[in-house]
Amino acid sequence: MSASHLLILTCCLVLAQNVRGQTQINCQRPPQLVDPSLCCRDGGRDQITEQCAQKIVGSAANGPPSIETATCLAECILTTSNYITEPQKINATNIRNNLSAKFSDKEYVEAMSMAFTKCEPQAQQRLAVIQQQQRQQPKCSPFSAILLGCTYMEYFKNCPANRWTQSTECALAKTFVTQCGLGA
Ligand SMILES: *[C@@H]1O[C@H](CO)[C@@H](O)[C@H](O)[C@H]1NC(C)=O
Ligand SMILES: *[C@@H]1O[C@H](CO)[C@@H](O)[C@H](O)[C@H]1NC(C)=O
Repeated sequence: MSASHLLILTCCLVLAQNVRGQTQINCQRPPQLVDPSLCCRDGGRDQITEQCAQKIVGSAANGPPSIETATCLAECILTTSNYITEPQKINATNIRNNLSAKFSDKEYVEAMSMAFTKCEPQAQQRLAVIQQQQRQQPKCSPFSAILLGCTYMEYFKNCPANRWTQSTECALAKTFVTQCGLGA
């Protein structure tokens, strides 16, 4: 499992909100977890992700990653990539340019850029709620982790056809994510 998948899981389990039941899908009981990147191929790990993982996860104690590790990893990835250049805001220009330079797949670049843009206000709102409940200043702001979790969910929901795997498990995972209001 890669760092980004770890993050998605941590973010979603911890930060999933707006969970509401609908026909046939029970939002309290997620379907058997599939690796989301096997259903919707993402960009994989880049050098920055590797470096941040080494620096942050590598130095953390063994065992399941803590929330602190997940939030610091997300922050490291997004600030080192210059996707965030001001606190609690995305740099949409950098995101689009950087993704375009790296990937020739235009649909992928579009879907990912859209997901970031759509999730920015969502992440700002969730952050405000979390900050009201916090007693201590955390080591790393949860903004990046919330943003990344939301962005991957949005990307998953709007997965470009050329990156989607058609299978029963993947279809079920998508229905769950869509109907249970995960993402933006
Ligand atoms: C985005 O980043 C670039 C360079 O890293 C900077 O020149 C620009 O002002 C930033 N835009 C915003 C909206 O922060
Ligand atoms: C993305 O931006 C970062 C920071 O500016 C830079 O280090 C990296 O090389 C860029 N990647 C691509 C593919 O342009």
